[in-house]
Amino acid sequence: NNLDTLYRQVIMDHYKNPRNRGGIEGDTLTVNMNNPTCGDRIELQMQVEDGKISEAKFSGEGCSISLSSASMMTEVIKGRPVEEALELADIFSKMMQGEDYDDEKFDLGDIEALQGVQKFPARIKCATLAWKAMEKGLNNEEE
Ligand code: FES
Ligand code: FES
Repeated sequence: NNLDTLYRQVIMDHYKNPRNRGGIEGDTLTVNMNNPTCGDRIELQMQVEDGKISEAKFSGEGCSISLSSASMMTEVIKGRPVEEALELADIFSKMMQGEDYDDEKFDLGDIEALQGVQKFPARIKCATLAWKAMEKGLNNEEE
């Protein structure tokens, strides 16, 4: 069906042409997160200025789902206030659990296509890896 096709296209697009892959020079919020099931890991770096995420980049090794999800995640949080990024993480987590979520407040762009991952429950951890890193980093920042 359409969601399956979209899912594959969006994942391949972000996997082949990752947005925001690399590192950031200087003072950054750096979070390492691994998927215990497979050992894959990503490193996420964010720069927060005046309560806004001015820059976000990721590196590391992982499967196509985890890396494409990191690409989409960094794309959607860049330039946003910290609290909006955390709201988005909440929406994404609901999406992954098949719960109802607010699809009107934000332009969710490509990330909605990741719902296709629900057909492969073992891969949900792959899709959420980068999002967990983002939440962890920003929650520590706020303390
Ligand atoms: Fe990623 Fe199994 S942990 S596919
Ligand atoms: Fe390891 Fe997907 S198989 S993160």
